[in-house]
Amino acid sequence: NFFRLHCHYHCKTVLLILTVGAVTALSAVSPSHNNVVILGGSGRIGTAIATHLIRRSSALPSSTGKIILVGRNPEQGQQSVQEVRDAASEFSSDGNSFEVEFQSISDVWDSKQLSPLFHDAAAVIHTAGPYHNRYPIPLRTAIETNVPVYVDVSDPLPYLDSSLELNEDAISSGTKALIAAGAFPGMSNLMAMEAAGSLPPGCQILDSGFNYFTAGLGGSGDVNLYITNLGFGDDMPQYEKGRLNYFKALTGKLLGQVDFFTDAESIMAKRVGSQQVFSWPFPEAATVARELKITGRSHAAMGTAPEVWNVMLGLLVDIVPRSWWRNERFSQFMADFSQPLVKATDKWLQLSSPDGVGETHAMRIDVTAEDSNKDIFVSTIVQGHESFRQCVGQSAAEFCIDLLQEQSTDRSGGVSLVEQRYRDEGARKQMIEKMTSTPGTIDYSGAVVTRKANGATVGPSKMEEVLVLRSMEM
Ligand SMILES: NC(=O)c1ccc[n+]([C@@H]2O[C@H](COP(=O)([O-])OP(=O)(O)OC[C@H]3O[C@@H](n4cnc5c(N)ncnc54)[C@H](OP(=O)(O)O)[C@@H]3O)[C@@H](O)[C@H]2O)c1
Repeated sequence: NFFRLHCHYHCKTVLLILTVGAVTALSAVSPSHNNVVILGGSGRIGTAIATHLIRRSSALPSSTGKIILVGRNPEQGQQSVQEVRDAASEFSSDGNSFEVEFQSISDVWDSKQLSPLFHDAAAVIHTAGPYHNRYPIPLRTAIETNVPVYVDVSDPLPYLDSSLELNEDAISSGTKALIAAGAFPGMSNLMAMEAAGSLPPGCQILDSGFNYFTAGLGGSGDVNLYITNLGFGDDMPQYEKGRLNYFKALTGKLLGQVDFFTDAESIMAKRVGSQQVFSWPFPEAATVARELKITGRSHAAMGTAPEVWNVMLGLLVDIVPRSWWRNERFSQFMADFSQPLVKATDKWLQLSSPDGVGETHAMRIDVTAEDSNKDIFVSTIVQGHESFRQCVGQSAAEFCIDLLQEQSTDRSGGVSLVEQRYRDEGARKQMIEKMTSTPGTIDYSGAVVTRKANGATVGPSKMEEVLVLRSMEM
């Protein structure tokens, strides 16, 4: 009897363990919920991500879930929850039910505080920058707690390199991670791959160029002023003759005037037109160049409006030593000092803008290549959106949805950059289609390929000459 009783309980225990194991395995393949934790969710980019996730909830693998906005300040958190709920009330729910709530933590860089939050998450999106001088603790914690999907909008090159070093761990845990997945870097990397993929077959890629424009802060949070100031202290990573170099004192230098349109009659020509751009240490100048195995030069640059900001920042960069910008206290002081003026000009941009938003964003990507006859081709893509903030949020949300959809059938993990994940033409085109049909998109040119005849300039006018001069100055 004792034996039978023992065997009965033993068998039941084994059965229970097997059942729990099977349920766990099944739920790993197909999550029963879409709980998404957004670190920095109470911020400007975080709320834009949450809103787009709800707008596109019918594309998610499961019809129920929670969106948890994470930040430090509970009052701001509650306001952000309300903002997302109000925005989401305008979309039809398609039978999906998504709750939005706020969780307060004192430090997003403290793994102990993150683990309990990640326990039940189908995805974690990390937007709580700045990422300067940080180690990717949220990604490492997501891997340690077996979170299926992780996305971030990080940008410093050393931070990206540390994240990529976690690739093997992510493979073991089955965490699919996509890093630097906002608008720029992010959507811009996807567009560069598309521009390269549209060149005549057999071409050798020579150069890649990333030019951006944002009106004021583009609706992003004040922290981006501080990040911009810190950036002035960074060396500029870019390729020269096919090799990555770090140029001291190049960041913030004027590179030239860029046409943010491919057709002079297009809406982009009227809305954004030609703008001055300044060298900026965006990582895509290095990471996409590496992916495309370019043999020439890469660069990344950006400009802003109103014009007075370009002039003022240009002057400051010439006067203030780089080591001062690297000092976090100095950069924060300058951000606090300029904040009221930035707010005032952003308000003016909003009032004077045709869409009443005043957060205009534009990107122009050029990829240059040479065929076996030494003919030169330039593939150009221009994209514009009425709100930088919305464009970043929509991009990160679309990347997250794509990963969640894949994760529901394929649990393989790994850490990748956008240009690595979307090498395949089919997957890339699908993603571009989704990202360029988002609300607020002004225009997307697709790849416009031009043949360069007898040294005639195509693409950013005089930019190449300026780049040669600048790199000789370094
Ligand atoms: N790739 C791209 O295209 C792109 C474009 C623009 C911005 N970005 C990145 O996006 C980030 C967010 O921008 P944003 O405009 O949303 O800024 P924001 O409005 O200031 O929001 C930042 C959010 O992060 C939270 N946070 C910051 N540090 C934290 C910490 N140590 N612990 C807990 N929470 C913390 C803030 O919480 P509290 O408010 O409670 O402090 C807030 O919710 C920036 O840092 C920037 O790096 C990327």
